[in-house]
Amino acid sequence: MSATLFTNAQIYTPVDDGTPLSGASQGQLSHFTRGAILVKDGIIAAIGQEEQVRPDAGSEKMIEEIDCRGKCLIPGFVDPHTHICFAKQREAEFTMRIEGTPYLEILKKGGGILSSVKAVAAVSEDDLVESTRKRLKTALQFGTTTIEIKSGYGLDTENELKMLRAINRLANHVPQDICATFLGAHAIPPLYKNNPDDFIDLIIDEMLPQIVAEDLATSCDIFCEKEVFTLEQGRKLLKAAQQHGLAVKIHADEVHDLGGAGLAAELRATSADHLLAASAQNLDAMASAGVIANLLPVTAYSLKKNYADARLMIEKNLPVALATDCNPGSSFTESMQFVIGLAVLNMDMTPSEALTAATLNAAYSIGLADRVGSLEVGKQADFLLLDGESPAIIAYHAGVSSVASVYKKGVCVAGGSQGNSY
Ligand code: NIG
Ligand code: FE
Repeated sequence: MSATLFTNAQIYTPVDDGTPLSGASQGQLSHFTRGAILVKDGIIAAIGQEEQVRPDAGSEKMIEEIDCRGKCLIPGFVDPHTHICFAKQREAEFTMRIEGTPYLEILKKGGGILSSVKAVAAVSEDDLVESTRKRLKTALQFGTTTIEIKSGYGLDTENELKMLRAINRLANHVPQDICATFLGAHAIPPLYKNNPDDFIDLIIDEMLPQIVAEDLATSCDIFCEKEVFTLEQGRKLLKAAQQHGLAVKIHADEVHDLGGAGLAAELRATSADHLLAASAQNLDAMASAGVIANLLPVTAYSLKKNYADARLMIEKNLPVALATDCNPGSSFTESMQFVIGLAVLNMDMTPSEALTAATLNAAYSIGLADRVGSLEVGKQADFLLLDGESPAIIAYHAGVSSVASVYKKGVCVAGGSQGNSY
């Protein structure tokens, strides 16, 4: 059995009590000032103050010791909402937006998501694996050790399956844990412009059964928005997905308050995502139903919108998670550090609340909290060493990476002296 003892670290982690953390608990971290972690076969065997952990390690014969002096040790980031599997960047469109054309206007003219759909149709599954692998490497270097990836640039059966197969294959090419979400209802394909209900039926009758049969996704998502999909269409699709045993999520109230947050509560979705325009009443409904609020500050930043009201959500005991929303349109970043920086400085979240949001609550929002998201005995030894003394360094040291090294299942996979294996 291989064992490694990490010593001398300032360790900060949220504590998993079996549910996502909300209200005051969202900002309460466990802190070991001279902390140590004993890792056996990729799993945390002991964690605490060094003097408590050393006796556990004493019985191990083959033990490597890594001194983390001067570093802060936190859980690896979990990015619970991405569209990182795509074929082509959309730089020209970014310039159009900066010059004043609204995001939904570009989509209406056949650009935006629909231009990414054309790009995906033109490449092979292997091409998608290769281009996405590069972005996942960047995400890893910035500290993301677990990531959710959505389909949604296929919009027909062949290309949605191609995307999901590529996403699932990527798990064999990168160190991260990957969780796949089916987002067939991401935009209305031009062929169904006048009959979007028929497209929802196609998803339900043709795509969902194949995806479930091949076990290609654990969740189903839909973009409910003016000129995209209605709440009724969302309800019909997500109920069908639930009948197939999938968890459900909603791109809710991103631009207009359509009531997506309320639908997420009604369906007991694992998360409602975006919520820039969600009503206070629907946020209350989410809190009562135990739905996690996945907030995506880089999208607001990049679309120049007001940020989601994280403080109000925390006051309402709504567990808040943070994600990149990495995509070629509204939010092109792989960096959870940038997300945390914006959450702290522009959304008034404390560094501790933001850390919980980017780790444990994020893990809950994709159903992986039994394995990742916090540093506790029995969970995977996925953690980061930061060049600072507390998680505040991430927002404080703006615009650069504070991640010195990244450990996945106890092995250095980026940064550090041994981290270039990937
Ligand atoms: O979450 N809003 C819909 N989907 C993505 C954007 C996708 C794109 O523009 O390619 C989002 O912001
Ligand atoms: Fe999204």
